[in-house]
Amino acid sequence: MKISLNKSRIIENQKITENYFLMKFENKNPDQPGAAQFINIKINSKQDPLLRRPFAIFNYTKKQISILYKVIGNVTCLMSKLNKGAEIEYFGFLGKAFNTDIKKKTVWAIAGGIGIGGVNLFLNNIKKSNRTELFLGFNQFQEACNLSKFLKTDNVKSHIAVLEKNKRYFQGNLVELIKTAKTRPDMIFACGPEMMLSGLYHNFIDKYKIPAYFSMENIMACGIGTCMGCTVKIKEGNKIKQKRVCKDGPVFKAEDIIFSL
Ligand SMILES: Cc1cc2nc3c(=O)[nH]c(=O)nc-3n(C[C@H](O)[C@H](O)[C@H](O)COP(=O)(O)OP(=O)(O)OC[C@H]3O[C@@H](n4cnc5c(N)ncnc54)[C@H](O)[C@@H]3O)c2cc1C
Ligand code: FES
Repeated sequence: MKISLNKSRIIENQKITENYFLMKFENKNPDQPGAAQFINIKINSKQDPLLRRPFAIFNYTKKQISILYKVIGNVTCLMSKLNKGAEIEYFGFLGKAFNTDIKKKTVWAIAGGIGIGGVNLFLNNIKKSNRTELFLGFNQFQEACNLSKFLKTDNVKSHIAVLEKNKRYFQGNLVELIKTAKTRPDMIFACGPEMMLSGLYHNFIDKYKIPAYFSMENIMACGIGTCMGCTVKIKEGNKIKQKRVCKDGPVFKAEDIIFSL
C-alpha cells in the first residue's frame, strides 16, 4: 500500500455532540484503508501548528474520508473551526490494520473515549459470517446518545457503558460492563486509551485467555517511524523491544504489550 501526501478540501465539519466533530473531506488515495489505520493531518501550511496529528479513519469511500474527533487541545480546537471548502493536508494511510479476514467467530469490538473513531471501519470491514458484538464506553450520557448513532451497528448487538449517572445505559466504566457479560467471545479487538486497554487486559482478557488485538493511541510526533517518539514496550520471545506505534502498530497483540499504566 502506497503512503501518499494529499491536499484535500473539507466537505463537511459537523458538530455531533459537545466537543465531538465528524469531518468529511475529499479522498485522494485510491487504496482501501484497513480498520485502525490512520492519517496524519496538517490543518494549514503555516509553521504553527507544525506537527501533524494522527486520526483513525472513521469511514471511507473512493471520494470521501471521514474522521470522528474530539476537541482536546490546540489543533483539534482549530480543526473544529474549519468550514466547508477549507484545505487540509493529510498523509496516509498509515500503520498496520486489524486483521478482519476472519470467519464464523464470535467477535467483540470494544471502544472507549477517542477510540470510538477507530471502531467504525472495523464494523464495516468485519465479515458478516462472524457474530459481532459492540461495547462502547462514554463519560457522559449525552455523548453516548449522540455518538452511538453514528456507528454502523446493523446486525451488531451493542452494549453501552456511561460513567455519568443515567437510567438508559449501564452505569460505570467499560471494563465493569464487560465483566458482567455472561458469554465469552472467540476474539477481541479494542481501541481506546491505555488505561482502558490495560484494565481490559488484566481484568478480563488475560483471565479468560481470549485472543485479543489492541489499537494503541500513543502521542506521536513524526507519525512515520523516524523519531521514536511513540514507542511502546512489546514482548518478542523472551526479549522486550521498543516498538513504534505509528509504524509497527498501532495494532499489537494484547498479550505482548507491556502496559505503562
Ligand atoms: C493512531 C491514533 C489514532 C487516533 N485516532 C483518533 C480519533 O479517531 N479521534 C480523535 O479524536 N483522536 C484520535 N487520536 C488522538 C489525536 O491524535 C489527539 O487527540 C490529537 O493529536 C490532539 O491534538 P491537539 O493539538 O488538539 O492536542 P494537544 O494540544 O497536542 O494535546 C492536548 C492534551 O491532550 C493530550 N494528548 C494529546 N494526544 C493524546 C493522545 N493520543 N492520547 C492521550 N492524550 C493525548 C496532551 O498530552 C495534552 O495534555 C488518535 C491518536 C493516535 C495515535
Ligand atoms: S511518531 Fe515518530 S516514530 Fe512514531
